[in-house]
Amino acid sequence: MAGDRVRLGLLGCGVVGSATARILVENAHEIESRSGVPVELARVAIRDTSKKRDAFVSPGLVTDDPWDVVKDPSIDLVVEVIGGIEPARDLVLAAIGSGKHVVTANKELLANEASTVMKAASKAGVKVLFEASVAGGTPIVRPMTESLAGDRVRRIMGILNGTTNFVLTRMSESGESFADALAEAAERGYTELDPSADIEGHDAAAKLAILASIAFDAAVVSGDVGCEGIANVTARDMAAAHDLGYEIKLLAVAERHGDEVAARVHPAMMPRTHPLASVRNELNAIFVEAEHAGELMFLGRGAGGPATASAIVGDIVEIVRDRGAPAAYPGAAALERRARIQPAGDVASRYYVVLSVADRPGVLASVAGAFARHGVSIASVRQEGFGDEATLVLITHSASEAQHAATFSELETLEPVRRLRSRMRVLGTAEV
Ligand code: HSE
Repeated sequence: MAGDRVRLGLLGCGVVGSATARILVENAHEIESRSGVPVELARVAIRDTSKKRDAFVSPGLVTDDPWDVVKDPSIDLVVEVIGGIEPARDLVLAAIGSGKHVVTANKELLANEASTVMKAASKAGVKVLFEASVAGGTPIVRPMTESLAGDRVRRIMGILNGTTNFVLTRMSESGESFADALAEAAERGYTELDPSADIEGHDAAAKLAILASIAFDAAVVSGDVGCEGIANVTARDMAAAHDLGYEIKLLAVAERHGDEVAARVHPAMMPRTHPLASVRNELNAIFVEAEHAGELMFLGRGAGGPATASAIVGDIVEIVRDRGAPAAYPGAAALERRARIQPAGDVASRYYVVLSVADRPGVLASVAGAFARHGVSIASVRQEGFGDEATLVLITHSASEAQHAATFSELETLEPVRRLRSRMRVLGTAEV
């Protein structure tokens, strides 16, 4: 990358790739003045070359073979927006191996193969930047790797999936069922063709693994993140949350406990006064608690062509501007080591619990006994309804998942408990 211009190769030209091409053309002046040299889109690999493209990709640049781009010795920097692990992994490693810098939006690749990719980049003396892989256009990777590099992050809590945040917002604000809210998200074009990775929390888990790896200086992979989706959240849970002054959000949480990292994605109730509770619709947000900087929140668009492309072009400018500087990603060495993951049963939180019960003397004592036997302390309890309609709504103090799970199992066997109707973690309160 020593010449008087930098030549880019783009792998993939769908929604994000074409938005990237567009910004490179429309903002060419700003990009050149901030990078120091013109940045030229020189090759574009497109799976289906017969598809109509917009004017920002001239037909002469197009190939249907991504290896043409990776093997082209005149290309200085490869932008990978194909997604998925293969063939993206092989292409990225080959680009790195031939001395090309890489910008990628690929969360699956980073959340599973970061150490392989970063080791290869360190060896080859090239940069791999990936701001767009987490929360699309919302800057979070660079603040974590650079601005907070001298601090110690204690906890990250994120709303890292726009589809599920949209669904939960509709359920909260319009009282819709999960199914109706999901149908509305699909109508508006927010859902992927197969929305299961979003709904089940796996998309957010991959993004959390990337953030946790940066925050805690050791590789956390997707499989390390405990995952529970939102399909079982009911309109009734939402109404109950409102009664308590809470909202329900799909939260991605990573925290350090001694030399262990706990990372999980699950729906949780959180007080409406918490900054994350006010993040509506398809927006993403990351709430970071750092030892010295204190509490920080990053909010923005987590998906969509233009927003994701903005993050990609920001990474391109950084690489071009800093050409000639030491190339390794600042946390690369740490990523070569795997994080020690806290066993899922040890992770502590509070729980909201709803039980359908018989309404007669001694029932509360028997329910309270089950909690007590497993060391779970009850913070509040309320009875709603009478006779056949009686329900108990409890909130616990912080206790481990294992303690809660044992309590729930015992509750299900208690004679006066008709049904364990609902349970959900409570986060963002003074206690945990
Ligand atoms: N499908 C994701 C979301 C965006 O709904 O946020 C891509 O990760």
